[in-house]
Order: sequence, then C-alpha cells, then structure tokens
Amino acid sequence: MKNKKILIIGGGVIGLGIGWQLAKAGAAVTIHESGQAGRGASWAAGGMLGPIAEAHIDELDLLKLSNQSLARYPEWVDELETETEMPIGYRAEGTLIIGIQPDDSYQLKHAFTLYKDLGLNVEWLSGQEAREIESALSPYVTAAIRCETDHQVDNRLMVQALQRAYESRGGVLHQNSTVERVVIENGTATGVQTQDGFQGADVCILAAGCWSGQINGLPNSIIPPVRPVKGQMLALQMREDIMIKNVIRTVKARYPMPVYLVPRTDGRLVVGATTEELGFDTDLIVGGIYELLHGAFEAVPGVYELPLIETWTGLRPGSSDNAPILGKTPVENLIYATGHYRNGILLTPITAYEISKLVLTDETSETIAPFHLDRFSKEQGI
Ligand code: FAD
Ligand code: GLY
Repeated sequence: MKNKKILIIGGGVIGLGIGWQLAKAGAAVTIHESGQAGRGASWAAGGMLGPIAEAHIDELDLLKLSNQSLARYPEWVDELETETEMPIGYRAEGTLIIGIQPDDSYQLKHAFTLYKDLGLNVEWLSGQEAREIESALSPYVTAAIRCETDHQVDNRLMVQALQRAYESRGGVLHQNSTVERVVIENGTATGVQTQDGFQGADVCILAAGCWSGQINGLPNSIIPPVRPVKGQMLALQMREDIMIKNVIRTVKARYPMPVYLVPRTDGRLVVGATTEELGFDTDLIVGGIYELLHGAFEAVPGVYELPLIETWTGLRPGSSDNAPILGKTPVENLIYATGHYRNGILLTPITAYEISKLVLTDETSETIAPFHLDRFSKEQGI
C-alpha cells in the first residue's frame, strides 16, 4: 500500500490527522481542501477532550471510542509538539460540571449517578469544595461534579501543528481546491474531479466534515448522513484576578442554556456554544451571544468585567446517531472518516491511527467496526 496514491478530501483535523499518520508511514498523500486548511469546525471548536461530560447512556460505543482516543492524547501531543516544535495547549487540569439553581443540582445528581453506573472517574463536590478549586465560581454554585480526566487542547494550535507536521513529512496540501465529484468506475473509486481536472488516486478518503454529504458522484445509498449543526461561540480575555484553570460546564434544568468555559494558556476564555439545526446558516445572532454571556455570568460573575475579544460560529458534522462514520464503504477504495459531531477534536488521534492502519493493512479493526456506514442500513432493515 505504501506505493499507492492516497487522496484525502478535506483538510480539517480529521483529514490532516490521517494524512500525517500516512505520510509518516511513507505513503504518498495528497489533501484537497476547498478553503484554508483547518478553518472549518476544527477552528471553531472549544477543544474540550470530554468523554465524561459528553457521555450519553445510549452512546456507549462512542464513549468507549472517546476514552480510547483520550488515552492516546499525551503521546499524540508529545509527538506532534516534538515534530513541529509548536506547543498545542494541551491542559490536564480537568473539568468541573456545576449546578447553580437547586433544580440544576437535581439534574447534576442524576448525571453523577449515571456516570458512576458507567464506572467513570467522577467526584461529587459541594459548592464550597468547587470554589476551593476555582475561586471565581459564583457563590450560588450549589454542587459540582469533578471530572479530572476530561482535559482540553487548543484546537486552533493543534490544526496548525498538524498541517506543519503533515507537510514536513512530504504530504501534499492543495488549498482552495474543491473536490466537485468522486469518480467511481465499475464500483471502484478511481479519483476525484476538482476545478483543475481529474486527480487519480488508488484510495480516496472522505473527510469533508459537515459537507461530506454534498459531494457529487456518490451513489444515493452511500451518501453519508451528515448534517451541519451550528454553534455560536465567543472569547473573553481573562485577567489575573479572574484566571480560571479548569474547564467549567454548567447543567441547566431551565433557563438560561447550559454553557462551557474553556481557559486557554494564552489567557483567552472560550465560551460556547449554541446547538442549532439551521442547515448551513452561520449568522451570529444577538440572542445566541446573549445566552452565552448570561450563562457564563451565572457561572463566573467576574466575566462581567472582561473584554469580549472574538465571536464566531462553526458547523459541527453531525451524523444521524451522533457517532462518527469510519471505515470502508461498498465502493472499493473509498473510505469514510466523517460525522464526528461534538467530539471531533477528542476523536482525532484514534481516527487518524485507525484509518491510516486500515489504509495500510486493508483490515478493519474491532475498534472502528461499530462505526461502519452499514449501521445505518441495518437500522432501517435494508
Ligand atoms: P472540518 O474541520 O469542518 O474540516 C472539513 C474540511 O473539509 C473543511 O476545511 C472544508 O473546507 C473541507 N471541505 C468541505 N467540502 C470540501 C470539498 N468538496 N472539497 C475539498 N474540501 C472540502 N469537538 C471536540 O472534540 N471538543 C469540543 O470542545 C468541540 N467543540 C465544538 C464547538 C463548536 C462550536 C463546533 C462547531 C464543533 C466543536 N467540536 C468539538 C467538534 C469538532 O470541531 C468537529 O467534530 C471536528 O472539527 C470535525 O473535523 P473535520 O476535519 O471532520 O471537519
Ligand atoms: N463539544 C462541544 C460542542 O460541540 O459544542
């Protein structure tokens, strides 16, 4: 497989992560990216590595995959930082999920019981105990769950480092190069059509985030069920007296909506995010920003005085069951790595290792088997 030509559609964390692993193994890899690499969802994200805080009772395969990816993070960061000499802002202080109103604490208790039942590493804290860890928390915080193992990375630094690592290993990156069509002949993918003509390849990997279902040429039966899910975000600049260290997430039984606050090493405090099913709309809306600020203020009243330095939106690539779509397709030589929804930054290492292994060995591992595209046709009884 090493001598084969591999073509990746999409230069976000997923495309670049896979590309880096393959280029490291000596494969000839080309990425086509329709805009600037890393400026899609990978730029917009909060960078939380939170298998626990994002856990759902009906998503146990995803929880397992997320934990496997998290376990790979320290080695991934070490290797990426060493190769590129770029720090990527990995922080292991942990996450506090807090409740503010009495009703929030009931919801928090419910989540805590679920986490315990799932055998996850969580600790129950009183409001006072939570404030001993983060003194800027509101005096109204009634209780918290501490998730010491839910970490974070600066996703913007990570995607820039991935681009550098990929290119320095000989990977080719064509930016402003939109893949218009996947070319399939007799059930086999033979390459793609871009504005510059046909680009032949022995293997094509679709990693185009929320746009993965938009590319022409795929038979209807294998169009990946991926949709855009809008998130509005903002960033504040922390001050010495309001310097948060843990990721803070709120649960809300009622109004306002839950938010998260992610402190970066450079002093930025990223606050997110709305979750909106509005197609490809990326407008920033006053109501969204108001809700985020309201939620952040309830959790950490001191944010009232901080400068607001950036606002933005991003589109999560959500699949029909919120889990990624990984592996072979019924079309020979066409592989999917898409649909990572809320956890694509967390899932980058496992996706990159497993998809590159699949390309190099032609074998689907047990790790990614549950995330095969065919689970959707099985669900529909086809
Ligand atoms: P993208 O980064 O969107 O990359 C896809 C790329 O494909 C884009 O650059 C696009 O230009 C390119 N492309 C599209 N069509 C074509 C084409 N036809 N030809 C060529 N190129 C094409 N995840 C976490 O783990 N933790 C978080 O805290 C977190 N927070 C998030 C907050 C928000 C607001 C959002 C939006 C997402 C968040 N996520 C988080 C999710 C995470 O960002 C995504 O799952 C992840 O970035 C997906 O990576 P990707 O490479 O598949 O997609
Ligand atoms: N995982 C955080 C988000 O998607 O907003």
